[in-house]
Amino acid sequence: MKAARLGVIGLAVGVLGGALIAGGCASEQEKRGHELYTHYCSDCHGPSGKQNEGFNWSFMPDPKPKDLSNKSEMGTFTDQEIFDTISRDMLNTNEEEGDEIGDDDFAVPTMPTFKYTLSEDEIWAIVGHVRTLHGMKMEFNVEARKASLDEGLKAAQTKFDQAKQAYEEAEKKASDEAERKSEELNKDVDVDESAYAAEQEAMGVAKKELDTAQVALNNFSTRPGRGVSVPRPDLTVKPAEAAALIARGKRLYEDKYGCNGCHNLEGEGGKIGPALDRAGFRLNATWVYRWLKNPQAMDSATRMPALGLNDADAKAVTMYVATLRAEKSEPEEEKPVETP
Ligand code: HEC
Ligand code: HEC
Repeated sequence: MKAARLGVIGLAVGVLGGALIAGGCASEQEKRGHELYTHYCSDCHGPSGKQNEGFNWSFMPDPKPKDLSNKSEMGTFTDQEIFDTISRDMLNTNEEEGDEIGDDDFAVPTMPTFKYTLSEDEIWAIVGHVRTLHGMKMEFNVEARKASLDEGLKAAQTKFDQAKQAYEEAEKKASDEAERKSEELNKDVDVDESAYAAEQEAMGVAKKELDTAQVALNNFSTRPGRGVSVPRPDLTVKPAEAAALIARGKRLYEDKYGCNGCHNLEGEGGKIGPALDRAGFRLNATWVYRWLKNPQAMDSATRMPALGLNDADAKAVTMYVATLRAEKSEPEEEKPVETP
């Protein structure tokens, strides 16, 4: 019964997500924010944002999802702060170079980030809806934001074009110089690459800025994972390293990605997704890896967000999931049916 209901909503959001055009009229944005909230947030936060209203609320590990209908608390957040909560970057926790797992600015990992799942204007639509839950109105100007991204791209393009021209001129000057010297000395003279190294570097920097501006503009109206396919992973592990990798995967599962907010293990954790007690038997590791990297690529309407797992994290978590091989399935199914 529940599965069927969820399926219908999922389909509706999928269709909506595909058909909507950025910068639609205000009521369209409101409707869209409401639909997206219902699909991605209300299992935990409840349809009207109140505590213990969402079905998953009581299954969540502490702290419980925030009461979004509480104006005295929510009113202290700016629109941008609410946006930044929903759209956080995952920190790099790679060993050696990165931060510690769990060393996040945000209090708990069990509030998922939607940065890797939804487009920026979808997230603004959600912020607009969240505002209505505590009787406020979003003031952030989404149109102006879009315009500034457009401007940003134009400016980055101009800067890149200029840097490229400066590089080409400096490079030409250096090779003309080498040619002149070759004639003068009547032997081959190498081009002095150091003469245009600064221009080359500046062009590289400008290219990166241009790419960043392009991605920012794309992500404004297009979902980040759209059209991105995950290459087949190399899941081989040296036997000596397996235990450490699995332990790391378990820590990532709980303390970085908050998988336990949505998945139940040994009777603990959320219930938005299936219990994973026997996932190691049921699921193929390559499939799990691909699913973790980009669930929307495999099922565009799924409620599981893409959580921004890098390749190393996805491998560690996949290895951990493969070890989940409880003997019996969920406790409910264990109970023998009593006959009178
Ligand atoms: C898996 C459950 C879950 C889902 C799904 C979820 N949240 Fe949350 N949310 C939480 C938890 C847990 C907290 C943190 C409570 C705390 O730190 O006290 C939270 C906190 C928040 C906060 C307050 C942030 C702050 O700085 O205190 C906002 C706003 C919020 N969520 C909005 C959303 C929106 C919008 C969505 C859907 C796009 C969403 N949440 C989806 C569990 C969830
Ligand atoms: C906001 C909730 C949410 C979060 C967070 C979440 N999942 Fe899921 N997950 C789901 C849902 C919902 C499904 C069911 C797929 C569907 O039909 O949409 C699912 C499916 C899965 C499956 C396939 C299960 C099966 O039996 O087919 C695996 C494996 C999985 N998730 C692992 C993870 C891991 C590992 C993490 C953390 C990195 C995670 N999930 C985070 C909601 C979530």
